[in-house]
Amino acid sequence: MNLTDRPRRLRTDGIRPLVGETDVRPTDLIAPVFVDATTDERVEIESMPGHERVPVSESVARVREIQETGVDAVMVFGIPESKDSEGSRAWADDGVVQRAVERITDRTDCYVITDVCLCEYTDHGHCGILEDGAAEEPCLTVENDETLELLQRIAVSHADVGADMVAPSGMIDGMVGAIREALDVAGHENLPVMSYAAKYESAFYGPFRDAADGAPAFGDRRHYQMDPANAREAMREVRLDVEQGADVLMVKPALPYLDIVADIRREFDHPVAAYNVSGEYAMLHAASEKGWLSLEEVAYESLLSIKRAGADLILTYFAEDIAERL
Ligand code: PBG
Repeated sequence: MNLTDRPRRLRTDGIRPLVGETDVRPTDLIAPVFVDATTDERVEIESMPGHERVPVSESVARVREIQETGVDAVMVFGIPESKDSEGSRAWADDGVVQRAVERITDRTDCYVITDVCLCEYTDHGHCGILEDGAAEEPCLTVENDETLELLQRIAVSHADVGADMVAPSGMIDGMVGAIREALDVAGHENLPVMSYAAKYESAFYGPFRDAADGAPAFGDRRHYQMDPANAREAMREVRLDVEQGADVLMVKPALPYLDIVADIRREFDHPVAAYNVSGEYAMLHAASEKGWLSLEEVAYESLLSIKRAGADLILTYFAEDIAERL
């Protein structure tokens, strides 16, 4: 027996941290926050244990709780008081996200990112204005170019109340360029755009759609979100967003799409974000409730793996729990 190469030599407790290639830090994490205009009290989100929808009056308190764990960035989602076919509460001056962001940025030093999309605000639940006949014809869905104008209004309205970054998530062609242009015209040329560049039409968004009340009333999102079968197409999507001025490139979901995270890391120099989505959170919770998995360990291993694949930042419902542990 003549074993010269023994990788186990570097696995003793003393040296493991020295040779560790990856770690997770609280400053890598972004915590999602749900602000709900339909409630005066915090409401638990059943399918995402430990998460709540909070009224605007609780938004600052909610962000302070997150910051106490060491996480200093949030992604704000809104549930409006009413919905219509255009989603007009999404860009209203007194909209739920606008009011919450104004308070949060006034009273805390947290870095505030906003989700720029229409699905929580439209009565049909799609991420844009519908094409004529969309409710009847499965091949139709959202009108691309008309939707761009609405996304511009939303992004500028978020920037005007102090958002630090906007994150368009609708997978509408040209959204990054349209938003960049509108922000620049409005004097927000220093406000970065994090594009949900490769966002897949995923069944892992289920619990979020309960949380944010944003499920489509008919049909699905396969005509605008990406087909899970495609990887090369993700590179094309990302390249377009880079050309249009995206500052950060996001992949969503995270764990089932780590190949995409790794591909983007290799091909581009921009920071890469990954969204560890609601279904990824819910399934670990469900298994741990049954006693089948150790929640803390699988949560940490998930985030570590997302970083190892190449993500610089991670949006995750585990942000507070993991940061607190670190
Ligand atoms: C919608 C949006 C969705 C998520 C974030 N933004 C839902 C969707 O596209 O249907 C999902 C996030 C999650 O599942 O955690 N703009």
